[in-house]
Amino acid sequence: MNYNIAVIAGDGIGPEIVREARKVLDAAGAKYGFTLHYTDLLMGGASIDVHGIPLTDETIEAARKSDAVLMGSIGGDAKTSPWYQLPPEKRPEAGLLKIRKSLNLFANVRPAYLYEELKGACPLKDEIIGDGFDMVIMRELTGGLYFGERKTVEENGEKKAIDTLTYSEGEIRRIAKRAFDIARKRRKKVTSVDKANVLDSSRLWRSVVEEVAKDYEDVTLEHMLVDNCAMQLVRDPKQFDVILTENMFGDILSDEASMVTGSIGMLSSASLNETKFGLYEPSHGSAPDIAGKDLANPIATILSAAMMLRYSLDLDEAADAIEAAVKQVLKDGFRTGDIMSEGCTQVGTAKMGDLIAERIR
Ligand code: IPM
Ligand code: MG
Repeated sequence: MNYNIAVIAGDGIGPEIVREARKVLDAAGAKYGFTLHYTDLLMGGASIDVHGIPLTDETIEAARKSDAVLMGSIGGDAKTSPWYQLPPEKRPEAGLLKIRKSLNLFANVRPAYLYEELKGACPLKDEIIGDGFDMVIMRELTGGLYFGERKTVEENGEKKAIDTLTYSEGEIRRIAKRAFDIARKRRKKVTSVDKANVLDSSRLWRSVVEEVAKDYEDVTLEHMLVDNCAMQLVRDPKQFDVILTENMFGDILSDEASMVTGSIGMLSSASLNETKFGLYEPSHGSAPDIAGKDLANPIATILSAAMMLRYSLDLDEAADAIEAAVKQVLKDGFRTGDIMSEGCTQVGTAKMGDLIAERIR
């Protein structure tokens, strides 16, 4: 089988980690009999440098025509990069938000799993870690504060900035269904996270989620306030199976969940619409401070590539093989700097990609 993959390597460590993911994908293709045809697309700072804007319409169309999009990371150092002298809507991040919205990628799936081998990198105490934990954050990705009307006005000689948080019933319902569907294939528990003691959007969120839950009697639903959830994630992360939440809360909680698993360098993500199409990217950023130094951990991108095979291309066996190869490399004691611990062998970005690809062949 042949598939067309749009590749957005992006900025910072993006090109290095995507190169390793492609290496691993090609190894899986050779073994399981499929070929991926890659088309490189520009987004973020890389697109600003060429086109003056972070995402062109042509790029969106090329991505739309592909079977799936594999992405590295976008953005630079906000203090030193000239990209951040531009108005906000022309900065690298605006490209990412625009592609999410244009392709209707409303469901962002971020699994946070503690590998047995990485217990040493987890900052929590042993009695909290126990047998480890395994959760999925289902983050709404095309609504809420990120996409509400925003402006800065001047009133009585003083500047005032306004951001708006809006959710419609339909937007809540479709992401809630996704969360329940995933929970059904796991430990059958959804924790819906909101701020219903303060926000109207959260009160609507809660009532729609309850309505959706009626169609999933085999799945347990609980509601949790976001401040409590932030605390529970470090107090007792084992209690979570699927966390369902709106855009901004999901952004924050997924970073927290990643740290609890040892390193943000391990956290993959899939952004999906109503079809099989998706955009796959690590949950971490472009880490400009270590870009080009062969220091970045490519595993989050490699695991995102595995999600791409599973969700968009139905190549489950190959996806399993990639995930198993990652586990095996960790078992064999290889680590990038971010997850390094005593007695292990530290390797760079490219070597880590080689080691994982070898274990697939
Ligand atoms: C993420 C990132 C983005 C977000 C930024 C780069 C706009 O933090 O994917 O979590 O906030 O969604
Ligand atoms: Mg984030």
